[in-house]
Amino acid sequence: RPNTQSLLHVVASDGVRAMMESALTARDRVGVQDFVLLENFTSEAAFIENLRKRFKENLIYTYIGSVLVSVNPYKDLEIYTKNHMERYRGVNFYEVSPHIYAVADNSYRSMRTERKDQCILISGESGAGKTEASKKILQYYAFTCPASEQVQTIKDRLLQSNPVLEAFGNAKTLRNDNSSRFGKYMDIQFDFKGAPVGGHIINYLLEKSRVVHQNHGERNFHIFYQLIEGGEEDLLRALGLERNPQQYQYLVKGNCPKVSSINDRSDWKMVRKALTVIGFNEDEVEELLNIIASVLHLGNVQYGGEEGNVCITSDTQIKYLARLLGVNGAVLTEALTHKKIIAKGEELMSPLNLEQASSARDALSKAVYGRTFTWLVNKINASLTYTDDSHKNYSVIGLLDIYGFEVFQHNSFEQFCINYCNEKLQQLFIELTLKSEQEEYEAEGITWEPEKFKGIISILDEECLRPGDASDLTFLEKLEDTVGGHAHFVTHKLADAKTRKVMGRDEFRLLHYAGEVNYNVNGFLDKNNDLLFRNLKEVMCMSENKILNQCFDREELSDKKRPETAATQFKASLAKLMEILMSKEPSYIRCIKPNDSKQAGRFDEVLIRHQVKYLGLMENLRVRRAGFAYRRRYEVFLQRYKSLCPDTWPNWQGKLADGVATLVKHLGYKPEEYKLGRSKIFIRFPKTLFATEELMICAQCFHHRHKFKPFLSFLFLSPIAIQAWWRGILARRRAQRRRQAADTIRRFIKGFIYRHRERCPENEYFLDYVRYSFLMKLHRNLPKNVLDKSWPTPPAALAEASEHLRKLCMQNMVWSYCKKISPEWKHQMEQKMIASELFKDKKDNYPQSVPKLFVSTRLNGEDINPKVVQALGSEKMKYAVPVTKYDRKGYKARPRQLLLTANSAVIIEETKLKQRIDYGALKGISVSSLSDGLFVLHVSSDDNKQKGDVVLQSDHVIETLTKIAICSDKINSININQGSITFTVGQGKEGIIDFTPGSELLVAKAKNGHLSVVSLLNLPHSQSDGFSKLKAEM
Ligand SMILES: Nc1ncnc2c1ncn2[C@@H]1O[C@H](COP(=O)(O)OP(=O)(O)OP(=O)(O)O)[C@@H](O)[C@H]1O
Ligand SMILES: [Mg+2]
Repeated sequence: RPNTQSLLHVVASDGVRAMMESALTARDRVGVQDFVLLENFTSEAAFIENLRKRFKENLIYTYIGSVLVSVNPYKDLEIYTKNHMERYRGVNFYEVSPHIYAVADNSYRSMRTERKDQCILISGESGAGKTEASKKILQYYAFTCPASEQVQTIKDRLLQSNPVLEAFGNAKTLRNDNSSRFGKYMDIQFDFKGAPVGGHIINYLLEKSRVVHQNHGERNFHIFYQLIEGGEEDLLRALGLERNPQQYQYLVKGNCPKVSSINDRSDWKMVRKALTVIGFNEDEVEELLNIIASVLHLGNVQYGGEEGNVCITSDTQIKYLARLLGVNGAVLTEALTHKKIIAKGEELMSPLNLEQASSARDALSKAVYGRTFTWLVNKINASLTYTDDSHKNYSVIGLLDIYGFEVFQHNSFEQFCINYCNEKLQQLFIELTLKSEQEEYEAEGITWEPEKFKGIISILDEECLRPGDASDLTFLEKLEDTVGGHAHFVTHKLADAKTRKVMGRDEFRLLHYAGEVNYNVNGFLDKNNDLLFRNLKEVMCMSENKILNQCFDREELSDKKRPETAATQFKASLAKLMEILMSKEPSYIRCIKPNDSKQAGRFDEVLIRHQVKYLGLMENLRVRRAGFAYRRRYEVFLQRYKSLCPDTWPNWQGKLADGVATLVKHLGYKPEEYKLGRSKIFIRFPKTLFATEELMICAQCFHHRHKFKPFLSFLFLSPIAIQAWWRGILARRRAQRRRQAADTIRRFIKGFIYRHRERCPENEYFLDYVRYSFLMKLHRNLPKNVLDKSWPTPPAALAEASEHLRKLCMQNMVWSYCKKISPEWKHQMEQKMIASELFKDKKDNYPQSVPKLFVSTRLNGEDINPKVVQALGSEKMKYAVPVTKYDRKGYKARPRQLLLTANSAVIIEETKLKQRIDYGALKGISVSSLSDGLFVLHVSSDDNKQKGDVVLQSDHVIETLTKIAICSDKINSININQGSITFTVGQGKEGIIDFTPGSELLVAKAKNGHLSVVSLLNLPHSQSDGFSKLKAEM
């Protein structure tokens, strides 16, 4: 098995690739599926041999790196089924055997992941399979992309646009039974979900000359034959057509109405259906077919008569034409036989000679057909328009399927344009794929000479615009004068004797990248001018056919400017196309035609060698092997692979280039494998990028499964390698964890033993751990409020710190509590504090008073007699409480009110102010330590007005006394007595109150003349609202 041997040899250092190859079936491994793996990659013979081997096995696809080489099999292969499409969906480019679906899928994924518009450039000569390839790609997207119902319509229209455009724009040529006679660039628009939502087609230079003339063995555009063969009887009758193509001058020139590979009748059905899908209504179809039929009738317009008096010999055509085109027959007849000239401001009708008349007729046919074709493209575009483009938020994949390089026996203006286009595309291919290796490419002998074309086109234009006797031959002479010195240009006159033998006098020869082509200058000027007489234009502008009405605009008539020549228009549209393509990420499909006889299984080596040569495939391969096959913009590369390196994950902060350098270093790229450019990284081998991509997919996979983002630093590829690697990682990780656990336990035990020592290496881990765990425990169990006195017990080493923390914590809670309290509550608390200082642990009923809030007064306005209020005058009352006064002598109890003002305590008996005690005269206040409410206000005997001390009783004794103490500022003058209180009665006499605890409250005069007070023991604790509020506030 020399193949496998050489393969293995090449990839000996690349086990990964070998493994990958082995995963493919034996058949897939015929030859190499990527020319990059060819052992003798510089040998053209080896290249062709590889193609041949694979072609024999119906393996029509082979890669050169990411470029797909496709050989036309000329037979249906079972490789485009839905299963195949499924197989290539979302699969890495290199994992499956080469296929056009892989290219399509790769572009699609790049578009989605990198958010960059893509384009797929399909090139190759006529018949090589470009159009088929573009259809396959479209079908792939239609099948694999997500779709909603609305998207389905777009998908259908995208697919159905092909048969319509092919019917009107393709024809049988000598090279290809279904040759595209127009260039086509199609954008497929995808929304953010990746669903195809719209499309847009740009068409390039339709080969209009085919409408009026076909070379021998060729046909006109398919639609004419389809209509004649497939059109229903009624339809043909309405159009005035016969079911016989031989009847039509425009269809007989090539003498080839029937082609075995084409079924015009079934194609007709398909086209009719497609028109409906695209959204043509019946009227539009009718008008379109009227135009097609009228072109056939135009072809049959015969001229006769004498020179100078040319007339149309048959009336029937004009009758049909007038109806089908919706114009006046007489006006049309005149326009087909006369030319309008303007002399000295006057319009004159000058008769045409026979030749002029038939070329005017042909010009009209070409103009009508050409413009209708453009209208058709616009109509399709309208039906493909992405309606919801408010945000213009779609990505694009462009498909370029343009006429391939072609050489015939006689090559005319059309071939010149087509080959110019191909040369432009080849230049683009070089620029885009091989730019960084341009020097090397040039060293390979491939050079690009776009200037020669520009020169020829501008001379052609000059000759077309020049007044006087310009002709095709003067054009040729001019060429000889100006570009004659160019190495790639030669004419009969300039050629050496040998070349002269194979060149006509009316030919010039260009050396294209694809080979030499002789162009015959006959017709160049006319075709470039593409003129339609003004009066014919006028007739068409009056047409009632709605399509023609749009095609021939009246404004055109008033436009005095000469229209641009065909070559210049084409050149400009190609320049625009190049811009479009340059703005996108390109993929390439290089199509090869295996033989000239459209035969399956025939591998014409000479023909293929020629194509391999001019497609530059060998150079392509050499450059791939030598140069850098892959390039990625820094931001794209970094964004995609940053998770593979800890330094670039999650974001690289520095310069992009540095980030990429760090990343590839981590990934273990060898210096010869990559180069860093100004904005891109260049990677030499596909396998490097591929391996990185694999690594990425693995990382993502692990990430999803294990919620874990591994940083991987080596490359691996196959599932087995990945599994082994992952198992290794897991085992190593488990072992490491066990080791760590043992270490931890060991250190812990040692630390525990040394825990009471000074901090030392043996115990520092333990101490830190203990500290840490205490602090964590504290963190979880901090006291909730100032009343909560709980606090975790600290380890010995932390006792001091714990105490500091506790204080801090308390201060903090107090501070935040204080910050929260209202002024009223603050006042309450201040009073309570004073009460606490005075009575706490000193008077038995103090605890009961704590939960009861102090009130501002116990007597309101209505409780106090107005006379009293009047008597007090401006003196503001601060507190009032009902009290019981005990007479000094008989200790008779009398209800009274005690009022506190700013200056004095006043005892009120109903309406009278019975006694006023100025605070200055208040010597002290006595109260028992028991739970009674009696208290004595000691009054200075200096004050003559006073009748001695006052014995009072209050139900709110704590509150009352606190208020008196505050108002009179006598906090220090409160005496709490045990047993008895002595007080002055007046005139030096004394009274005594004896306090005793008992089971019942009793205040009475005792036999010894003292006032005896029995206080209740064990007062019940009451919980009042005030107390709960107090607690809650804490
Ligand atoms: N992948 C394929 N499988 C089977 N047949 C194919 C394939 N590709 C091309 N062919 C055959 O070759 C013919 C010519 O292919 P196609 O029309 O795609 O050529 P082209 O490159 O577009 O040529 P042109 O430049 O003339 O338009 C097709 O009609 C079809 O019969
Ligand atoms: Mg084609």
